[in-house]
Amino acid sequence: MGAFTEETVIAVRHYTDRLFSFRVTRPQSFRFRSGEFVMIGLMVDGKPLLRAYSIASPSWDEELDFYSIKVPNGPLTSQLQHIEPGDTILMGKKSVGTLVLDALEPGKRLYLLSTGTGIAPFASVIRDPETYERFDQVILTHTCREVAELTYGKELVKTVREDPLVGEFVGDKLVYYPSVTREEFERKGRITQLMDDGVIYDELGIPPLNPETDRVMICGSMDMLESCKQRCEQAGLKEAPTPARPSMWSRSHLWAEPEQGLASLSGPFRLYPLP
Ligand SMILES: Cc1cc2nc3c(=O)[nH]c(=O)nc-3n(C[C@H](O)[C@H](O)[C@H](O)COP(=O)(O)OP(=O)(O)OC[C@H]3O[C@@H](n4cnc5c(N)ncnc54)[C@H](O)[C@@H]3O)c2cc1C
Ligand SMILES: NC(=O)c1ccc[n+]([C@@H]2O[C@H](COP(=O)([O-])OP(=O)(O)OC[C@H]3O[C@@H](n4cnc5c(N)ncnc54)[C@H](OP(=O)(O)O)[C@@H]3O)[C@@H](O)[C@H]2O)c1
Repeated sequence: MGAFTEETVIAVRHYTDRLFSFRVTRPQSFRFRSGEFVMIGLMVDGKPLLRAYSIASPSWDEELDFYSIKVPNGPLTSQLQHIEPGDTILMGKKSVGTLVLDALEPGKRLYLLSTGTGIAPFASVIRDPETYERFDQVILTHTCREVAELTYGKELVKTVREDPLVGEFVGDKLVYYPSVTREEFERKGRITQLMDDGVIYDELGIPPLNPETDRVMICGSMDMLESCKQRCEQAGLKEAPTPARPSMWSRSHLWAEPEQGLASLSGPFRLYPLP
């Protein structure tokens, strides 16, 4: 058990039959940068079963939040969705990831483009005061198939704005831009379509993506990453090199599924594929 620690579940909340979030204890020695991910899991049939999970809480928090899918017959999530306060989960000792502020060149506006559970790393980034020290405007977009799938993000943004500590940094810098693709909603369509049609820029009263001022982080399915990456490149943005890490780590730390655990690249925009 040397590669991971056992953490206690503090709270669990279910949003839909496909989505839930949970909070666990944080070991004092566990350090991470807002936006990174860690391996978490359970003992299944006497063996550790772990998957990559974005840490959805900021680096200053005393506990750790996660936001999860429930995949029917998913090896991990078919079990994980049943956790309750007091239960134990396994957690890796190292966090990694490229969706961190250090990877971005200075800019004025930060776009955080997410679909589905891809909002999880940004739940961390938007609660980090440093985000607002570095950028004048932070636009969090979240696109889901159904309205109910927006609940987590909607409540998160409200909490961030009302937080006595972080709220002061946030001010009016944080813009929440939700959309839905398969149900009626006040804003319909994929973020890519809303960008192509100029809807997002018109609605927010801002100029289109501009490499001089704008930086972008992206988190969603491979398909979504590719589509968003295309838009960024068309606008003249370039991928940034993977940021330097504060501590040494190697592929072998991602013992569960190394090829899954490694986020792909970043840039003025950065990518973070979900399987
Ligand atoms: C860097 C990284 C960070 C991740 N962060 C998160 C996170 O914060 N929250 C989270 O729920 N998952 C996250 N994932 C996915 C996670 O690692 C697992 O795949 C997921 O928990 C399902 O595990 P499973 O064993 O039940 O099914 P798996 O065998 O891992 O997946 C089965 C299938 O379910 C679908 N699937 C898996 N995860 C998702 C998802 N998140 N959204 C939609 N469909 C999915 C895919 O079609 C996949 O092929 C992340 C993956 C990577 C690589
Ligand atoms: N009830 C169910 O059983 C149920 C419901 C939903 C999903 N699922 C399963 O779960 C998996 C993941 O579903 P998910 O909803 O979390 O993720 P998803 O299929 O990636 O969809 C999330 C959001 O991203 C949008 N999107 C997809 N591809 C995009 C692209 N290339 N560019 C921009 N936006 C894009 C989707 O729009 P579109 O709607 O236009 O695709 C949707 O609004 C799916 O593969 C599916 O099999 C099951």
